[in-house]
Amino acid sequence: MSRRKNLPGQVPGTFSISGSNELVPYFPLRIYKEDELWMIRNPLTGQAKEMNEAAFWLLKLCDGYRTLDEVITEIATSYQADRESVLGMSSPLLEKLTLDGVLWWREERMNYWNVPEPAGVLWDLTSRCNLRCKHCVVSAGEAGRDELDLDECHRLIDEFAEFGVGQLILSGGEPMVREDFFDIAEYAAEKGLLIQVATNGTLIDENAAHRLAGIGASTQVSFDSSEPAIHDEFRQHPGSWMKTKKGIEQLKDAGVPITLAVTVTTMNIDNVPQIYEMAIEMGVQTFRILPFVPFGRGRYADELEVSPARMGELTEFLHSKRDEDEINIAPMEFECTLSPPPEQGIDDDVRIGCDGAISYCTVTSTGEVLPCNYFSGADAENIREHDFRWIWANSRFLNYFRSLKASDVKGKCQECSWLPVCRGSCIAANFAHGDIFQSNCHCWLVHPEK
Ligand SMILES: C[S@@+](CC[C@H](N)C(=O)[O-])C[C@H]1O[C@@H](n2cnc3c(N)ncnc32)[C@H](O)[C@@H]1O
Ligand code: SF4
Ligand code: SF4
Repeated sequence: MSRRKNLPGQVPGTFSISGSNELVPYFPLRIYKEDELWMIRNPLTGQAKEMNEAAFWLLKLCDGYRTLDEVITEIATSYQADRESVLGMSSPLLEKLTLDGVLWWREERMNYWNVPEPAGVLWDLTSRCNLRCKHCVVSAGEAGRDELDLDECHRLIDEFAEFGVGQLILSGGEPMVREDFFDIAEYAAEKGLLIQVATNGTLIDENAAHRLAGIGASTQVSFDSSEPAIHDEFRQHPGSWMKTKKGIEQLKDAGVPITLAVTVTTMNIDNVPQIYEMAIEMGVQTFRILPFVPFGRGRYADELEVSPARMGELTEFLHSKRDEDEINIAPMEFECTLSPPPEQGIDDDVRIGCDGAISYCTVTSTGEVLPCNYFSGADAENIREHDFRWIWANSRFLNYFRSLKASDVKGKCQECSWLPVCRGSCIAANFAHGDIFQSNCHCWLVHPEK
C-alpha cells in the first residue's frame, strides 16, 4: 500500500469530508450524560461541548472499525433518512472535530491483537499532591474524587500478579501522600511485583527510605534545577528543592536505587549540564530527561515547551557524555538520529508509536486503563467494570493504538530512514499539538528551526 495518499488534514488547518468515504474515522473521547445532555470534554482545550442524540450515535459509530461510508449508511437506515442528507448534516461536526484534533482518520480498520501481558504498569495511585507544579499532566492538587480505595488496590494487585505483570511504577499525583501508600507498595512486593516509585521526593524521611529499601523498590525522583529558586518556582512550593534533596540523601543512605528525572522546559534547559553534574555528585544511578508535553495544567503553560532544535542540542550534549560512563543516561527521544540509520528500508506495515499499549500501560487513580496518562479523557475501560486481563485484551482504545502503522503518518516521517527505530516516537505529543498523525512535532529533523 502507498503512503503517498493525501489523508484528511494533510494541509494543516484544512479538512473536508468529501472524498473520505473509504477512510475509517475514530472518535477517542468519552461521551457522558449530564442533565439529560450528551457531553464531551476535549482534553486539549478543557472545554465541554453538548450534543444531541443523533450526534451521539454518529460519534459512537466512529469506532475505528467502520468506514465513513458504513457509518453514514447505518445512521441513514436507523433514522430512515437518505444518505446524502445524513452526510450533509454530519459533515460540519466531523470536520470541526477533525480540525480540533479529536477525530482521527486512517486508511485501514483497526484490529484486535493478541499481545502478551504488559511488562510494566504505571499506576497513578492518586491525583492528590503536596505540590502544584506548573506543568503537571495530572493537574494534581486537592483530594481526587472517586479514587480506588485500599481494597480495590489490593484486588488490582492480585490481578496484576496473577496475570504476570512484571513491574509496577507507583506514581500520581504524589503517590506518597496516600496514607495507605506502604500498605499498597508492600502488598504488591509480597505478591512478587517489582516496585518503582515515581515521586517528587519531598516526603521521604529515614523511615520511608528504609521501608522502600525493605521491599527492594527503586525510585524515580523529580529534580528540575541545580538552583533551588528555579525548582521551587516551577514546582510552586517554597522549600521543595531542599526537601527533595534531603529525600534523595535518605534514599542513598538506605541503598535505594535512584533515577533523577528532569522535566526539560524553557525554564531549565540551560541548566541541564549543571543538574547532570549534581546527579553525578549525589551518586544517583540514572539520569533521565523528560520532554515537557503541554497536557493537564501544562496546557496553560505552553511557553514552557522547548523547541525541537534546542532539545536536539541537549540530546547531542548528553549523547557525548555516554562515553564518559559516569552515570547511566536513560535513552532520549530521537537520539537514534545521532547514529547512522538502519539499513532496512521503510516498511508501511511497521507499527508506529511508543510501547504504550504494547508492553506497558497506565492505570489512572480512578481505575481507567490507558496507553499512557497523556490520554486522560479518552473513552477507556475501567477496572471497576472489567478485570485488568480482560481490558488488556479487549480495550478498543488500547487495540486502536496497537493498530497504528507507518502508513498512518503524514509528512517528513514518511521518508525518514530512522522511522523503523524511532517509530514516530511519542504520538501523545502530536495529540497535544492537535494532529495525532502529523510528523513528530518534537523532532528536530521535522522542525529544524530554532
Ligand atoms: C506526573 S509526575 C508524578 C510523580 C511525582 N509527583 C513527581 O512529580 O515526580 C511524574 C513525572 O512526570 C513529569 N511530568 C508531569 N507533567 C508533565 C508534562 N506535562 N510533561 C512532561 N513531564 C511531566 C513530572 O515532572 C515527573 O517527573
Ligand atoms: S508533577 Fe508531580 S509533584 Fe508536581 S504537581 Fe504533578 S504530581 Fe505533584
Ligand atoms: S523524522 Fe520522524 S521518523 Fe525520523 S527521527 Fe524524526 S520523528 Fe522519527
